[in-house]
Amino acid sequence: MKAQDPKSPSFFPISFNLQSHLLNYLSYFLLFVFGLTLGVVLSNLKDLSFGSLQFAQIPFSPVSPPPTYVVGTNTSVSSSPPRIGLKDYLKPPKAFHDMNNTELLWRASMTPRIPEYPFPLVPKVAFMFLTRGPVVLAPLWEKFFAGHHGLYSIYVHSSPSYNHSSYTETPVFRGRRIPSQEVEWGTVSLIEAERLLLANALLDISNQRFVLLSDACIPLYNFSTVYSYLINSTQTFVEVYDNPNGDGRRRYGLSDYPGITIDQWRKGSQWFQADRDLALEFVSDRKYFPVFMKCKGYCFSDEHYLPTFVSMKFGAKNANRTLTWVDWEKGGPHPTEYATKNRTAELLSGLRNGFGRKCEYNGRSRDVCFLFARKFPPTALDNLLKFAPEIMHFNT
Ligand SMILES: *[C@@H]1O[C@H](CO)[C@@H](O)[C@H](O)[C@H]1NC(C)=O
Ligand SMILES: *[C@@H]1O[C@H](CO)[C@@H](O)[C@H](O)[C@H]1NC(C)=O
Ligand SMILES: *[C@@H]1O[C@H](CO)[C@@H](O)[C@H](O)[C@H]1NC(C)=O
Ligand SMILES: *[C@@H]1O[C@H](CO)[C@@H](O)[C@H](O)[C@H]1NC(C)=O
Ligand SMILES: *[C@@H]1O[C@H](CO)[C@@H](O)[C@H](O)[C@H]1NC(C)=O
Ligand SMILES: *[C@@H]1O[C@H](CO)[C@@H](O)[C@H](O)[C@H]1NC(C)=O
Ligand SMILES: *[C@@H]1O[C@H](CO)[C@@H](O)[C@H](O)[C@H]1NC(C)=O
Repeated sequence: MKAQDPKSPSFFPISFNLQSHLLNYLSYFLLFVFGLTLGVVLSNLKDLSFGSLQFAQIPFSPVSPPPTYVVGTNTSVSSSPPRIGLKDYLKPPKAFHDMNNTELLWRASMTPRIPEYPFPLVPKVAFMFLTRGPVVLAPLWEKFFAGHHGLYSIYVHSSPSYNHSSYTETPVFRGRRIPSQEVEWGTVSLIEAERLLLANALLDISNQRFVLLSDACIPLYNFSTVYSYLINSTQTFVEVYDNPNGDGRRRYGLSDYPGITIDQWRKGSQWFQADRDLALEFVSDRKYFPVFMKCKGYCFSDEHYLPTFVSMKFGAKNANRTLTWVDWEKGGPHPTEYATKNRTAELLSGLRNGFGRKCEYNGRSRDVCFLFARKFPPTALDNLLKFAPEIMHFNT
């Protein structure tokens, strides 16, 4: 039972001793080379610090050229690399980018799961204009936005067949057009356009509230009132109602598709105000939106998809009303157009106090029911410019 102890010297074969001698010589040699190198380095350092050549240069020097920086002074090239940080990552692309819809919606659907931002975030409101041609009431909006740079972003989706080079955009709208597609009234293409607007606006992480507007919309209050109303709201504003006997349920056309019953079918205005969470749900919905996509022709999906989707999934956080006033009193397929030129001042005052109504806001009753109103045709612009800035307390 004489198992060899691996620790005893006799365990190692004879060649080991030879190898260890060789190793010894090798280590002496390496020590010598190291010493030589150290000497060369030190002599170079000396050269540097005294600025003169006191030692002869050794040819075939193995050291790399001496460093060019001098520690402790500011005169030389900085040796620390530029900070990378988050700046580039957070920078939204140009409004008119070349991502296709698949790429855009995918990118827009990304969201951080850590709720605290590691940088100061000033929340912005995204104003999304769904138009045919230019934003015709732009001069009024210019006055509204003046002096509030950094608190808003603008996105415009207009018909691709509209010739942009024939119209001079005013400063806040310049370069804010997004890649757009053809939209037909009453069809699902309207929802697609809304999704594109939202997706583009989501690319800017500062955008925390999202407002859909048309070229016939006007603001009813000044920017500071609108901004704090939206930013501070605990609710989203998507109009949702059931309309058992009227238009609402008669338009239900999804009986062939499972998932949305007639009891869940809702109606509401197309003009909504959403927070970031709802905007994200809207662009990444792959369950309900495809059902509406199957509807061909005039299904008025624009008035049913979002109300139905929101009431089914996100009703608890929704005010079920919109902040955009529109007058349907006259009936018919289109709301009243405020073309009457001589009563603008009275009309604006009436709209601002919601014609006497009160509305709930963050659990309390308030006078402000509507922040925006439509429909105002281009011919109303002159009068609006005359009265609105004073009535709405614009700060210009
Ligand atoms: C070094 O330069 C930076 C800017 O380049 C300056 O802020 C800093 O005060 C300078 N430091 C000294 C010690 O001169
Ligand atoms: C978008 O581009 C990607 C990559 O080029 C392509 O796979 C996809 O089919 C495109 N989608 C559309 C809707 O054109
Ligand atoms: C668009 O308008 C510009 C300027 O009015 C004109 O030169 C151009 O030919 C127009 N383009 C189209 C496609 O109509
Ligand atoms: C939101 O409300 C709080 C408390 O009333 C207020 O201090 C804050 O300034 C408001 N924020 C905005 C953006 O108005
Ligand atoms: C809005 O409607 C949903 C159901 O769709 C309901 O849960 C919610 O309480 C309503 N919100 C308000 C403020 O009435
Ligand atoms: C406004 O003009 C209409 C005709 O265009 C007239 O009938 C109406 O009396 C005017 N209203 C006021 C308040 O001047
Ligand atoms: C905005 O309008 C409100 C009244 O709606 C007014 O109290 C406030 O002073 C105005 N803000 C500015 C900056 O003019």
